[in-house]
Amino acid sequence: MTQPPRKIIIDTDPGQDDAIAILLAFASPEIDVLGLTAVAGNVPLALTQKNARIICELAGRSDVPVYAGCDRPLERKLVTAEHVHGKTGLDGPAMPDPVMPLAEGHGVDFIIETLRREAAHTVTLCPLGPLTNIAEAFRRAPDVAGRVQQIVLMGGAYFEVGNITPAAEFNIYVDPEAADIVFRSGVPIVVMPLDVTHKVLTTRARVEAFRALGTEVGRVCAEWSDFFERFDMEKYGSEGAPLHDPTVIAYLLAPGLFRGRHINVEIEVQSDLTRGMTVADWWGVTDRPANALFIGDVDAEGFFALLTERLGRL
Ligand code: BDR
Ligand code: CA
Repeated sequence: MTQPPRKIIIDTDPGQDDAIAILLAFASPEIDVLGLTAVAGNVPLALTQKNARIICELAGRSDVPVYAGCDRPLERKLVTAEHVHGKTGLDGPAMPDPVMPLAEGHGVDFIIETLRREAAHTVTLCPLGPLTNIAEAFRRAPDVAGRVQQIVLMGGAYFEVGNITPAAEFNIYVDPEAADIVFRSGVPIVVMPLDVTHKVLTTRARVEAFRALGTEVGRVCAEWSDFFERFDMEKYGSEGAPLHDPTVIAYLLAPGLFRGRHINVEIEVQSDLTRGMTVADWWGVTDRPANALFIGDVDAEGFFALLTERLGRL
């Protein structure tokens, strides 16, 4: 018997890698995207919600509602990443302004209402940016955390430590208090940290494979990769950029591509020096209970084969 498609909400701050993740979800019949909720992160909310609509239209999915969520972290000033993603957050190929309207209502209310409406444990949350919207939903409506099927998120690092500071990954750093709420929520969590995303690099051959699809989506994904990889290639001297956020969707489609450990992960919220660090007990040196499946390894060739084949369907 074929399984019904898995219902997800993508919470996002596009971002070129967020965009490719969203396209991967749209291209996959195993997944039913109930809606996108935008959050402030890579760029301010006015741009992330607009970018989310641009991506829906590129995929021909203007039927999927896009909500604007929180415009700043729970307790801190917003930190953005134009130095990586460009002024618009989606720099690279010229994209038309979206025609589809923003959905009415707040993204956090959409998350709460959807979790209350759908049967318990049938909706998965896929955060690709700072965790502000998810934490705010759990804070405003404490009943909904217990209804989430799973959270599969991109954020944090253990072996790779940090990208926005020496100690922290961007998504967790921007809103550590929100991350702390999410990691303490009791929801089953799968984490795609830098440890795994730094293994899925946009090499020349992989970007050319996007272009060789010969489609609008293939061309745009290749040009997004061309744009955002310049930053990481200079920084790390690597042969491409980590394609962070699509790992979240790939995990839903093909969990066998990934390997990790069920461990305890806590978030540093006190120290100025290590703010947003994901203190991951990879070696099991404490007796703190496991609260996340922390991914450390991936079949990178399998990941790109899946991604490219799916993008070719759009
Ligand atoms: C994360 O930060 C953003 O810049 C990317 O979109 C990704 O979600 C990587 O640290
Ligand atoms: Ca992101």
